[in-house]
Amino acid sequence: MIAFQPSAKFDKQASIILLDQGEVKKKSFPEIPKNLKKLVLSAIGSNQFSGDEGQIFPLVFDQKIILLVGVGAKKDLSLTALRMTVRKAFMSAYLAEIKDVELHLHDQKDDSVVSVIEGILIGSYKWKKYITRKDDDKTVDEKNVYLVINKKEVFEDAIVICEGNNLTRDLINENADVATSTHIEKVIQKLIKGKKNISVEILNKKEMKTKGLGLHLAVNQGSNKEPKLIIVKYAGASKKEPYTAIVGKGITYDAGGINLKPSGHIETMRQDMSGAGAVVGILKNFLSLKPKKNILFVCTLAENAIGSNAYKPGEIIKGYAGKTVEIGNTDAEGRLVLADAISYVIKNYKPSRLIDIATLTGACVVALGCDYTGLVSTDDQLANQLLASAQKTDDRAWRLPSYKELKSSVSSKIADIRNLGFPKGAGGTITAAEFLRQFAEVDGTKWAHLDIAGTAFVEGHTRMYFAYGATGAAVRLLTDFLRNK
Ligand code: BES
Ligand code: ZN
Ligand code: ZN
Repeated sequence: MIAFQPSAKFDKQASIILLDQGEVKKKSFPEIPKNLKKLVLSAIGSNQFSGDEGQIFPLVFDQKIILLVGVGAKKDLSLTALRMTVRKAFMSAYLAEIKDVELHLHDQKDDSVVSVIEGILIGSYKWKKYITRKDDDKTVDEKNVYLVINKKEVFEDAIVICEGNNLTRDLINENADVATSTHIEKVIQKLIKGKKNISVEILNKKEMKTKGLGLHLAVNQGSNKEPKLIIVKYAGASKKEPYTAIVGKGITYDAGGINLKPSGHIETMRQDMSGAGAVVGILKNFLSLKPKKNILFVCTLAENAIGSNAYKPGEIIKGYAGKTVEIGNTDAEGRLVLADAISYVIKNYKPSRLIDIATLTGACVVALGCDYTGLVSTDDQLANQLLASAQKTDDRAWRLPSYKELKSSVSSKIADIRNLGFPKGAGGTITAAEFLRQFAEVDGTKWAHLDIAGTAFVEGHTRMYFAYGATGAAVRLLTDFLRNK
């Protein structure tokens, strides 16, 4: 539980006091009891605490634990570091057994308040559903945290967005045989139940066959689970206002198909529905924050399995747009389901802008690593707005090029287009994006693509303020973009 508290009390089992170097130097800390101030001054006087970034110094006062936590120099204070510092303090051994914590900020600026809340709620998130042993780290849901701030609206807003972010993580972290297309549909139905200005269209295998979503069907062919295209229409603005569509890749498991993934690459492929997972988290945010916008929330769900029914390399398949696709590799399945979803949404809903979100290419991880989402768009205004939201929310993105001559990189001798870029291994992220562009940039639709293959999931050790597993990449970025631009 995390609660809002307008003034300091120092009556909890523990208190965290964030201080910047300037405050420490000037010895100016408001709202501290006199006797505690003496203790703090002696820690400073004996050079044990200076306010350096990430520094944690424990005190005992009135039988309570006080953690002095440094956030660094005010003038070049990094909000990423602030999130990491708050996470570190919160998860430190000093608080392991503590239930009630009061937290005092070094300043009350909106972006500091948001960063601190994210440091707590995003920073202490951990996927624990399948851990039965007892000695596990305490997460925020096992503590009562009281934030001493005077900005109720900023506080409530940030909490909603963190909860949306963490819902996305739960969906991604869940086993692939639990988080199936049917499960994701249920989660969406539960979210939208009884909500105003919402309608939904769902295509299952049967409807896909009738309507000709051949690419989506092909990808799911080797699976015993139902393929689904889910389109939630959120009408928060007047009918005249244009729609923006967000389309998430939702491969509930990507085994690679007949081009089976090798060991070392397959184990975390339940993450391949991270784009769709992000769409669900953003939908949750919208249903709580109720921005006056028109948005289409789209999840394109399938499983890329291997088996005697699976679609085959070398085949040619026709999609909803009428274009034929040569299957160069069954593991390049994301662009296929997305192509059908994008074509279907543009033809039937006519959005003015469309943004797809996908764990699309391993090449993106090679190019940009794990801290920056790859952004591709031919529309400079749209790209710049997305980059601005990425910067503001610390949900980072970096633009990669898209240009006319790339068209030949996905050409085919025997079909209209090929799902594998050429030359082999060259620019895998931008050739995949080029494939999507040829389905998205029709009827004047402005399009952008977010490749979250590197950012959606942490393998190995904690990265920045994200523990092992899903991060919720693109949730904060797109929530900000969609409600403000
Ligand atoms: N889902 C993968 C991409 C991926 C890789 C996501 C690593 C997350 C982490 C995608 O479907 C895929 O397999 N792409 C292939 C494309 C290739 C066959 C052209 C890849 O990146 O190797
Ligand atoms: Zn794949
Ligand atoms: Zn995939």
